[in-house]
Amino acid sequence: MGRFDGKVAFVTGGARGQGRSHAVRLAAEGADVAVVDVVRQFDSVQYAMSTPEDLAETEKLVREQGREFLGIPGDVRDEEQVAAAVGQVEQRFGGIDLVCANAGILPSTGPHAQRMSAWHDTIATNLSGVFYTLRAVTPGMVERGRGGAIVLTGSTSTFRGVAYKLEMLNPGHMAYGAAKSGVLSLMRNYAMALGTHGIRVNTVIPAGVDTPMTNNEFFTKDLQADAPPGWMANVMEHGLVQPGDISDAVLFLLSDQAKFVTGVALPVDMGTLLI
Ligand SMILES: NC(=O)c1ccc[n+]([C@@H]2O[C@H](COP(=O)([O-])OP(=O)(O)OC[C@H]3O[C@@H](n4cnc5c(N)ncnc54)[C@H](O)[C@@H]3O)[C@@H](O)[C@H]2O)c1
Repeated sequence: MGRFDGKVAFVTGGARGQGRSHAVRLAAEGADVAVVDVVRQFDSVQYAMSTPEDLAETEKLVREQGREFLGIPGDVRDEEQVAAAVGQVEQRFGGIDLVCANAGILPSTGPHAQRMSAWHDTIATNLSGVFYTLRAVTPGMVERGRGGAIVLTGSTSTFRGVAYKLEMLNPGHMAYGAAKSGVLSLMRNYAMALGTHGIRVNTVIPAGVDTPMTNNEFFTKDLQADAPPGWMANVMEHGLVQPGDISDAVLFLLSDQAKFVTGVALPVDMGTLLI
């Protein structure tokens, strides 16, 4: 018996990284999984974004768990694409029970980050994309009357300044924190309105996670190399966590073990926010 037997999960940004980990772990615990991912490069992003091959790998890993998979190349910056993807998932699986609004970009390095397109792409993905996802999944979940659970992906950068030098006040980096802060407002309002429908909405707050978003040469060279001591410090004196460490928290929030938990921003940050 898995915690998510008979459930259908919808994960944005699941071609790789944390989203893939959530998708595979949800499948391992019984859920059929649909993933939407843009699987192409944005001009504003310096590190390599995911590819169709990444999405195919997620499909393989989910199917190895014995569950159904639907992979949809799609851009959460586009409301119509998100709505169409949700419609496709509802038609294929009969409805959605679990949602991970996880897709995100961090265009904070290189000349790319200085372009105003980095601001617009980040707000469009990390904030508007979350809203479009919530807006698209909610009617079906409410109408079905089976309740459900939604986890948004935030960031510790919501709760503290991270710009230790002037170059970090770039459009990409500033949009990242602003968008992730906005996600908390979306969570609180959706959690309030959906509570009586048995739908819970929470946010996971990861610190540094070992994915290509953070573990890339540009982040290491441009942001970490000349950072003041303690810039990414945490009280457990641990480095980057693994995607599965975030999945542990996400699956808890999606599960009945968290049946009375809603409207919460849960840090998985090794005490980063204590410093
Ligand atoms: N890696 C970290 O250190 C860290 C820390 C805190 C929060 N986060 C957040 O975690 C989430 C997952 O990031 P990750 O670490 O797995 O990075 P990642 O780059 O490995 O994965 C992000 C995925 O989102 C997809 N994506 C990006 N823009 C999209 C769009 N417009 N439409 C659809 N898909 C899109 C990418 O193609 C990619 O597959 C993001 O929201 C990120 O901001 C990451």
